[in-house]
Amino acid sequence: MYVIGLEGTAHTAGVGIVSSEGDVLANVKSVYTTEVGGFRPRDAAAHHAREFPGLIRQALEVSGLSPGDLGLVAFSQGPGMGPCLRTTAVAARTIALALRIPIVGVNHCVAHLEIGRLRTGAEDPVMLYVSGGNTQVIAYAAGRYRVFGETLDIGIGNMLDKLAREMGLGFPGGPRIMEMARRGERLLDLPYSVKGMDVAFSGILTAAKAHLRRGARPEDVAFSVQEYAFAMVVEAAERAMAHLGKEEILLAGGVALNERLQEMARIMAEERGASYHCPEPEFLPDNGAMIAWTGYLMYSSGVRMRIEDTVVRQNFRTDEVEVTWR
Ligand code: ATP
Ligand code: FE2
Repeated sequence: MYVIGLEGTAHTAGVGIVSSEGDVLANVKSVYTTEVGGFRPRDAAAHHAREFPGLIRQALEVSGLSPGDLGLVAFSQGPGMGPCLRTTAVAARTIALALRIPIVGVNHCVAHLEIGRLRTGAEDPVMLYVSGGNTQVIAYAAGRYRVFGETLDIGIGNMLDKLAREMGLGFPGGPRIMEMARRGERLLDLPYSVKGMDVAFSGILTAAKAHLRRGARPEDVAFSVQEYAFAMVVEAAERAMAHLGKEEILLAGGVALNERLQEMARIMAEERGASYHCPEPEFLPDNGAMIAWTGYLMYSSGVRMRIEDTVVRQNFRTDEVEVTWR
């Protein structure tokens, strides 16, 4: 069976095609960005509406399949921005009705975890999911994926993007902060905020801006912010591993493209005798393949949805999904 998956919870319109054997035949995307930064959901939704038809064609071309080969369509049902989710759902319903194939709505956070397991071979990991809007520590327990820790204010990527904007670096800020941090030399004082397995970043952002105003080198600020913020999320993940007795860490989300975060997570895993897992770069940020694969897992374990069940869910919680395929 071949499955097409549409991702569209936030900035990214992504289309992936996977086989029931877990081969990824296509994974294409287009990311909505603005010059000035700032996220306007309606503009992002308009971007997705513009891009999906071409992306779907492109994915079919890359995969070498024709529309008639598709047996299932999956889409990101939530959580995310209402306008983006609705646009994506409309595209998916159109495919389902035109091709007369079944449709399933997928939880975006669960999809990050499942594509990570597929690509790395991790079996029962603690996932550290770090992106623009999300910062969560998720793991399997008693039939569900549960959130054991999360940010109490803004997402870690959001914090990096805001800091980059303050420095005049543009969007997305994460990669530019990473570049700059390589030339950092001094560790500046910042608030370190971990409560149990939860973290918070607005204090770091405020303190970093204050350092900049007082004339600190931007390179030192970038370096210090990374050291503090990444140490915090890695500590939260480590606590979850200790608490749950799990021996694998899995990275997910766009911020996990960061080389320093990867290094810290790897070292933490080594020191506890655990294993470190990170999928290839194309599977870390939002992508269509993760939706297609998770849709397949759901469908093959008996999940069925009618078109009426495909209403989007902006606040779709990770632990609302019954994990029927494990
Ligand atoms: P969601 O939160 O729904 O997953 P998103 O659009 O934020 O949506 P991603 O594409 O996973 O999701 O991640 C984008 C984020 O990753 C941005 O905040 C960006 O700055 C950050 N990012 C990308 N590359 C790096 C990097 N090398 N280092 C740090 N952060 C990075
Ligand atoms: Fe995501």
